[in-house]
Amino acid sequence: MDVTDGLEVPQETLDAEIKSFFESAPPLKNGDDISEKLEEFIGRNSLPSGNGSARRVVCVTSGGTTVPLERRCVRYIDNFSSGHRGAASTEYFIEAGYAVIFLYRRGTCQPHCRSLPEDPLLECFEVTDERNIRVRQSDSEAVKRAITEHHAAVAEGLLLKLPFTTIFEYLQMLQMIAISMRSLGAPAMFYLAAAVSDFYVPWTSMAEHKIQSASGPLDMRLVQVPKMLLVLRKDWAPMAFCISFKLETDTKILLEKADMALKKYKMHMVVANELLSRKEEVVVVTTNDKVSVHRDKTQVGNDVENSLIRLIVERHSAYLENPNL
Ligand code: PMT
Repeated sequence: MDVTDGLEVPQETLDAEIKSFFESAPPLKNGDDISEKLEEFIGRNSLPSGNGSARRVVCVTSGGTTVPLERRCVRYIDNFSSGHRGAASTEYFIEAGYAVIFLYRRGTCQPHCRSLPEDPLLECFEVTDERNIRVRQSDSEAVKRAITEHHAAVAEGLLLKLPFTTIFEYLQMLQMIAISMRSLGAPAMFYLAAAVSDFYVPWTSMAEHKIQSASGPLDMRLVQVPKMLLVLRKDWAPMAFCISFKLETDTKILLEKADMALKKYKMHMVVANELLSRKEEVVVVTTNDKVSVHRDKTQVGNDVENSLIRLIVERHSAYLENPNL
């Protein structure tokens, strides 16, 4: 839940909070490796594709960020998100011809795995004799499709998966991705479906070791995570087409909050969703309209992301024709 939506934070305060967040964050362990992968992925997808123009590239964020309470982390605060929205959307973006940077929470739902059971290794395979294992007949179509589609996306250089766990990793990686994508201009898109923590314990004031319960009740001060949406729009990737999400549990305030986020963070679209109905319906809020998008129930196994991504691709095409609209 975003508690800062209604409050105006002066620009200098926000800049200072962002600076302090990044300066005090523990550096990424594999920062060089991520940089290299990004450079290679974006370089390859900047080249003209089959139709003569550069491929569109979208960064899809997915899953919830954690807030560690100890540096040698035993306990943490988590954010709700199964990662289904991000994983399904990634598949539809790839089908629509986009290259996808999938920034996801470790252990959450993955693209091309949605139709598999929760533990595919244990549930889809059977041991026929001591030397052989085979896919169960009932799962063979789903397994074949998942492997074929996933390997094709990776082999064609259309999918780069980057995992995060903590809020520190997520925001540092989002910044790196955005700055790398800046050179793409308007064909770049951000689809920010991750559930991002609003409060965190700064690394500098975090306990080193496991907090002891023998010391009595825990009294801890959490600092607000600075919203990075505006800085993403203004500084990191100013030409990119940006879509953020607004999650609420009270439908009465949902559209108003989505409208507010659209204006405040200068998003091109805000996808408003309510927790319980999020798999059936979302409302896409733009400066000109509000479009209700539903899951098409007439098609078996269909999901709301199918229609949502179709609408987003259309609007992105219109933006490419005229980025000033
Ligand atoms: O993963 P599923 O189970 O399929 O569920 C999908 C979803 C409900 C998680 C997804 O559709 C969704 O709504 N994601 C955004 C959840 C969220 O963080 O909402 P919010 O209202 O707190 O934040 C609004 C936007 O601000 C988000 O796009 C978020 O990326 C951004 N944000 C939030 C907090 C923060 N400190 N900084 C941010 O930039």
